[in-house]
Amino acid sequence: MSDSRRSLRLAVLISGGGSNLQAFLDAASTGELSGEVVAVISDRTGAYGLVRAQKAGIPNHVVDYAAILRGEREASLVASGPSVNMEDLDRKQRILRNPDPQKRLDRLKRLVDAEQELIGILDTYRPDIICLAGFMRLLTPHFLHRYNSRGQWRVLNVHPALLPAFPGEHGYEDTLAYGCKWGGITVHFVDEGEDSGPIIAQAVYPLWPGDGVEEIRQRGLQLEYAVYPQVINWMAAGYVEIRDHPEDRFRVRITDPAYPRIVEGWVMKSLQCPVVTFDRG
Ligand code: GRF
Repeated sequence: MSDSRRSLRLAVLISGGGSNLQAFLDAASTGELSGEVVAVISDRTGAYGLVRAQKAGIPNHVVDYAAILRGEREASLVASGPSVNMEDLDRKQRILRNPDPQKRLDRLKRLVDAEQELIGILDTYRPDIICLAGFMRLLTPHFLHRYNSRGQWRVLNVHPALLPAFPGEHGYEDTLAYGCKWGGITVHFVDEGEDSGPIIAQAVYPLWPGDGVEEIRQRGLQLEYAVYPQVINWMAAGYVEIRDHPEDRFRVRITDPAYPRIVEGWVMKSLQCPVVTFDRG
């Protein structure tokens, strides 16, 4: 890591295996990441990513989303936090689509309860960037506006498809089922929609005849482990420019002179993965 780069404080939010978290930890341990994982938070107990955090000596926490959303946990957290105008929040959000306004508001309130707990933990670690890495929860504008304010975008996600194709939870499955010949992964900023925020980086991999979802998941994950840390390095070095197109969407420009060489490396990497030549059909 060159001395001119900042080392970013990363909070990593997970729900499962945490192999992207591991990629951050590995890159940090070899000096290849301009960042330090300062906290790991899972939305459930039992996520293997929590074990990875413990092994690396990283503080880790659980916000039990399922219990909070079921209403089993005290739903008065909002009362102890800043007051939240739920109707206003509902107008801004683009993740809940239930046509029944009362049901939508109830769900939103519980999500905000969970987010209050999340924010309470996160703020003690003063993260520069919040990295969603397999975090299977949608964030409301209540959470996002806290970290994406004053022109700064501080919440990142890695998505297992070439957005805007295949948003949602099953990027690899959807890519395979559609019959795509190339799949991809995306690292993007998180906005009020589902997987709709400004795209920072993408990489692609081929799908070979006979591939199943596990083959393409493994191929895609190898790219996720390369691209996500690279994006952190670009952010630390000030190479990520966000441009506001007034009548359009925010767009990201990477100003790293090495950008073409890095993208070429990702293409080569995806082609070097083993080719499956048999047809299982
Ligand atoms: C990755 O494929 C990521 O793109 C998606 O969830 C998966 C997380 O894997 N959002 P892991 O928990 O990092 O192993």
